[in-house]
Amino acid sequence: MGAVSSLNGQARAHAAQRISNLFAPIATDLDEAERIFSAELASHSPFVQDLVDHCSLFRGKRLRPALLLLAGQACGGIRPAHSVLAAVIEMIHTATLIHDDILDEAVIRRHAATVNSEWGNEAAVLMGDFFFTHAFHLAASLESTLACRWIGHATNLVCEGEMLQVHQRGNLELDEEQYYAIIRGKTAELTAVACRLGAHYAGATECVVEDLGSYGRELGVAFQIADDVLDLWGEEAQAGKSLGTDVVKQKLTLPIIRFLATAPATDAQRARELISLPGPTARAQLIQMLSDSDAREFSWASAQASSDRAIQKLAVLPESQARTILKRLAEAVIRRSA
Ligand code: IPE
Ligand code: IPE
Ligand code: MG
Ligand code: MG
Repeated sequence: MGAVSSLNGQARAHAAQRISNLFAPIATDLDEAERIFSAELASHSPFVQDLVDHCSLFRGKRLRPALLLLAGQACGGIRPAHSVLAAVIEMIHTATLIHDDILDEAVIRRHAATVNSEWGNEAAVLMGDFFFTHAFHLAASLESTLACRWIGHATNLVCEGEMLQVHQRGNLELDEEQYYAIIRGKTAELTAVACRLGAHYAGATECVVEDLGSYGRELGVAFQIADDVLDLWGEEAQAGKSLGTDVVKQKLTLPIIRFLATAPATDAQRARELISLPGPTARAQLIQMLSDSDAREFSWASAQASSDRAIQKLAVLPESQARTILKRLAEAVIRRSA
């Protein structure tokens, strides 16, 4: 845990701050979701409980449960099912992170050691499964099977997105369309279903549920583009997770796709060579080439466009404090440093 303990505590607090500042009006419901989360995952096995404690102690931004609760509040009010579903969605998200860190060989997550780096890949695979199975066990405690169906379908698409990304690893010709297909699956499906569930369980009409889903999808796309920019230019101490793994794993993201598509042929060729070379020197040179181009600005503009589209979808809602927060959230996810 050497790398972890060397992280600056102030940076950690600052990083989590901006997005969670928006959650004050749903703080009680988020706490209730957290309580349900811990109760569901409790285990009699000390080893399993140790792993659960590790994954629960270090909390993330809680973006997805907050989206679900805010969508509920904006569509008529939060009901008991919302807190259960908020816990379910965070469990699915945590499962995907535990597995994603194995794929990326990441060592830091949420300012702590990843499960794979601390306990090994075998325990991490099983721990991710443990979170997935508990999520569906908890969702099945609701009266209707609708949430299980929706969450099951969204999780299928998340897995397909991650599989598509693994399949495209090393493809240095990946284009924007393929990139968007990956991030719509691996990231935006979960934020979309969180919003749809929030709206549906508040009694919203089908049309409102679909618009909230589109809001969540666009927000998820914007969020992932911003994340991919952070992976290249962010600060590990602020982000609280291993950065730079996209290039190491030869997963092309929007800034690189943009550069390769628009740079002079010799520069694009040099960039492809650098992507294929291991080590910090090649990485620094690649980032310098990207920084000298419009790759970063282009990516931010694309994230901004998705964020704008998300906000437009909120027009279906009557004015409320929750709607205002959903708007601010769509703005904040592209300005984040963690
Ligand atoms: C990380 O999500 C995974 C991505 C989709 C980029 P978050 O940044 O929401 O992770 P936590 O929950 O706050 O740690
Ligand atoms: C998001 O991709 C992973 C999932 C949706 C599970 P990343 O690999 O970019 O996420 P981080 O950067 O590790 O959080
Ligand atoms: Mg990752
Ligand atoms: Mg990332």
